[in-house]
Amino acid sequence: MKIDVVSTSPIKKYYLKSLSGQKINFMLGERIDIPVDWYELNIEYDGIKNDIKEIILDDVNIDEQIYTGYYIDGNGKFHQPGGALWDEGGCFKIWLHSKIGVFVERIMRCLESGEYGSDLSKKYLFTVDKPLEISKSFPKEIQSFFSYGEGPYWWDKSKADIPYRIVPDLDFDKDAVLQEAIKLCVVGHESEDGGEYGKFRIDSTNAKCNLDLPYADFDPEKFPVLAKLFEAIGLEKLMTMHLSTLEPNGNFTVHRDRGYFRDGYKYLTGCKIFYWNLTDPRDNHFKFGRCGLLPTDKPLFVNTLSHVHSSINQSTSDRKVIMITGKYRENNFERF
Ligand SMILES: [Fe+2]
Repeated sequence: MKIDVVSTSPIKKYYLKSLSGQKINFMLGERIDIPVDWYELNIEYDGIKNDIKEIILDDVNIDEQIYTGYYIDGNGKFHQPGGALWDEGGCFKIWLHSKIGVFVERIMRCLESGEYGSDLSKKYLFTVDKPLEISKSFPKEIQSFFSYGEGPYWWDKSKADIPYRIVPDLDFDKDAVLQEAIKLCVVGHESEDGGEYGKFRIDSTNAKCNLDLPYADFDPEKFPVLAKLFEAIGLEKLMTMHLSTLEPNGNFTVHRDRGYFRDGYKYLTGCKIFYWNLTDPRDNHFKFGRCGLLPTDKPLFVNTLSHVHSSINQSTSDRKVIMITGKYRENNFERF
């Protein structure tokens, strides 16, 4: 791999970062001997204002694809387009692949041409799938799934395969939500230790413990906190609520949710399952293939029908997640 950068003043502080977070020092314009993979090029502000004009990867100018890069200013704020470096602590970042063909293919697959030069985060969710070594106590297939990362992806927020949406500004007492969720779930299912789907417990409002019709019985007077939550996330009618528990060392094996044969399928497909970890998210990981780890410290809508996934709890306390499905307000998801 060889990287050249054309800029208004010489670049002094720069390095590559591998997907696993390793910092690699190198010389611009000289061949770098590194394994075939994705690398994040970091160019730091060095006291002189600078403008990055061109990036040349293996003697090929990446042209407008330079606009996939962005600038994180000294206060940690994201700017795109972001070729200008202007403040102390600021850093320009762009993901590059050591094989130019792989880089070009990924960018062209994910992004529509004609959108370069704009703030891509308005239309796309940007994710970076990174490798993570997890405890050897988990099944080998799960360890292997977490240990591989496919690098950067841009997901069109208007498409049905969007992996997740973040729900901002939910101001709730999580414990109050949890207590009402426990009360509302009437059926429980515990997987057998070492069973096909992992080691977990699901409590549910659905008699068969499925995310499916019929609609659940729900009396807002008896569950005022949940009623307020449903209103906040745009839910008009509850189909199923699950309370999913992973004890320490609990897990869901690598799988993709089905549901196309169910009556309630239309309420599941297209990233419509509300997902909120009500407990401490530390040492709990939820990964989608190609997308990477989900930000489970925030309430989300997740697309577990389109994406292969696995969850693990390597903390010392129980992880409790609520999942809510049903009929949402029209155009509800355009705001996330
Ligand atoms: Fe699942």
